[in-house]
Amino acid sequence: MDHKQIFNVNFNYPVAFCRGIFNPENPLLRDTLSQQDKDRRHRVIVYIDEGVATENPALPDDIRNYFNAHVNQLELVADPAIVPGGEQIKNDYRLIMGVLDQLLEYRLCRQSFVIAIGGGAVQDAIGFASAIVHRGLRIVRMNTTVLAQNDAGVGVKNSMNLHGAKNSIGTFAPPFAVINDYDFLNTLSFEDWVGGVSEAFKVAIIKDREFFADLCEMAPLIRRRDVKSMEGLIERCAIMHLDHIRTNGDAFELGTARPLDFGHWAAHKLEGMSNFKISHGHAVASGICIDSFYAMKQGWITGDEYAAIETGLHQSGYTLWHAEMDRRLGDGRLELLGGLADFQEHLGGELCITMPRGIGAKFEVHEINEVLVETAIQHLKDCFCSPIGEDQVS
Ligand SMILES: NC(=O)c1ccc[n+]([C@@H]2O[C@H](COP(=O)([O-])OP(=O)(O)OC[C@H]3O[C@@H](n4cnc5c(N)ncnc54)[C@H](O)[C@@H]3O)[C@@H](O)[C@H]2O)c1
Ligand SMILES: [Zn+2]
Repeated sequence: MDHKQIFNVNFNYPVAFCRGIFNPENPLLRDTLSQQDKDRRHRVIVYIDEGVATENPALPDDIRNYFNAHVNQLELVADPAIVPGGEQIKNDYRLIMGVLDQLLEYRLCRQSFVIAIGGGAVQDAIGFASAIVHRGLRIVRMNTTVLAQNDAGVGVKNSMNLHGAKNSIGTFAPPFAVINDYDFLNTLSFEDWVGGVSEAFKVAIIKDREFFADLCEMAPLIRRRDVKSMEGLIERCAIMHLDHIRTNGDAFELGTARPLDFGHWAAHKLEGMSNFKISHGHAVASGICIDSFYAMKQGWITGDEYAAIETGLHQSGYTLWHAEMDRRLGDGRLELLGGLADFQEHLGGELCITMPRGIGAKFEVHEINEVLVETAIQHLKDCFCSPIGEDQVS
């Protein structure tokens, strides 16, 4: 007799916005780790993104002191380990093998904690390693970039790049907790400070007209490193991201539509084409412009709406043009267009690209007119061929 198996699993995890997470007086980390079992002494291992460690030389000591101050509840099983930051950790399988070995060597069990302190790449890679050891250790994501705090590090995915393809390996694994400590943002380069702003534009353009207007207004402040504006942007964007995952009915992306990847088919391709010299957030800014220009040409958004998108991103500090964007293959086709097939393959099924319909609404298209994409790229080349930088803030 046929039998249909149906069951639900309830996931929940706290997402905190804070400062001074390793101040021994701050109970947040201890309480977060103890939330499901107050009487146990919890075993913890910590991985630190090299970029964070270099800029915060006192961090390993701060961590040791914190664990010493809470020794009855927490056990640091090894000295904090420093791992390469950025795409390097996602590109190198051997680095992850080393982490897997270490997690097993220290006998971490499914009740033990892995704390990943770093940007989106370290979150993806350490999250992946944690998800497959004993089929899932408890991961606490301590995000240290704008992009990780407002997007990459608050969701349910992890990944690595294998076989030359971005995010080709990975799992869906909701974290045990997310801790966004704003103090970490102080040491970001200008590039990484601006980096995650494009993800806020992305979600605002397809979901929230008011947020979009606010982003356009605060863009020059963001570029001048106004901390208050950035913190507001991060929290609002992260909450929209969390709402989407919780309510859209497809948290583990079983369908072919992926609205949060608006602007991403071109972005992922561009990152790879540049050998990851162009970071995710900056590639997303260009990808948003390409798809928004396309939407304008199709009549789905107005010329004024497109202009607001482009100006908002540019004023936030994005270059928007990268030489790789008009690189052509032997047959004369733009190499970037290969991103459409890659995107389709990654999601499975038919091509499904999210487009804005006005600002604050979206729909899916299943065909892309390549000639119009070329027009969008030519437009960006004409307007933004000469780069701007922090020193040119007006
Ligand atoms: N899992 C997801 O859902 C998801 C979503 C979006 C993006 N991502 C991934 O996130 C990655 C991009 O993340 P990102 O933008 O955070 O960049 P990143 O992780 O590549 O970090 C950028 C650089 O900043 C350094 N760094 C990190 N924190 C720092 C700090 N506080 N001070 C100084 N330097 C610091 C890093 O060492 C690195 O050199 C990409 O691999 C992307 O694919 C994942
Ligand atoms: Zn993204």
